[in-house]
Amino acid sequence: MIGIIVSRNEEISPFLDKMRSVKTHFIGSNQYHEGLFGDKKIVVVHSRFGKVNAAIRATILIERFGAKTILFNGVAGALNKSLHIGDLVCATSLIQHDVDIEALGYAVGFIPETGDFFATDPFLNGLAESVAIERGLKLKKGIVATGDQFIADDAKKAQIAERYKAVAVEMEGAAAACVCSAFGVPIFVLRTISDAADMDAGFNFDAFLESSVVISTGFTLDMVAKL
Ligand code: ADE
Repeated sequence: MIGIIVSRNEEISPFLDKMRSVKTHFIGSNQYHEGLFGDKKIVVVHSRFGKVNAAIRATILIERFGAKTILFNGVAGALNKSLHIGDLVCATSLIQHDVDIEALGYAVGFIPETGDFFATDPFLNGLAESVAIERGLKLKKGIVATGDQFIADDAKKAQIAERYKAVAVEMEGAAAACVCSAFGVPIFVLRTISDAADMDAGFNFDAFLESSVVISTGFTLDMVAKL
C-alpha cells in the first residue's frame, strides 16, 4: 500500500477524482481515503498545517494501513533566489528548523537519540526524476527545512537558509520523514514553490494553491503508476 499525504484539503479532491472503489475511514478527527489507482492500493490523507498533524498522518498510514511507501505533496516557500514560484522541489533530506535544545549543548535542529537531517529515499527520488523528464518539468533537488511557522520574514528566511543550507521551507515534511525513519519506511517529499518566504508570502499563497495542485497530483500519480 502506498500512503499519500497532502498538506492542504484542496489537494485531496484531484486524487479522489482519479481513484476507484474509494472507502473513507474516520480516524483521529481526520479522513483517510482508501482506494485504487490502476492496480495500486493507495490511501490519501490531508495533513493540515504543522509537524504534529503530519506525524499523526504518517504514523496512522504506516501502523493502521500498512503503508510501505509514503509520498508527500505540498507547497513551500523558496529560500534560494534560483527557485521561482511554480518550481518543483524534491527534498533530498529534511530538518526541523524550529528545534532548539542548544541550552543543553545540542546543535540547533538536533534531537538526541533521533537526529537532525532525515533523508528521503534515493530510489523514489530517482523515479521522480524520470517522471519529471517524461512530463517535461524541471525538478530541483535540495534540503528542505520544516517548522511550525509560516515564514514571511527576510531575516528568518536568511537564517534558516544559511544554518541548514536549505533551499525551501514548509511546515510538515521533516515530521513525516522523522516518522518514516523510525519505522523504516521510504518517503518522497515533493514541494511546489508558492512564495519567496518574504513579506509577500501570505499574499501570494492562496492565489497560487489551486493551479499548483493539478501539476503535483499528476506528478504523484505518475510515480504511483511506476511503483
Ligand atoms: N509553505 C508555503 N510557503 C511557506 C512559507 N513561506 N513558510 C512555511 N511554509 C510554507
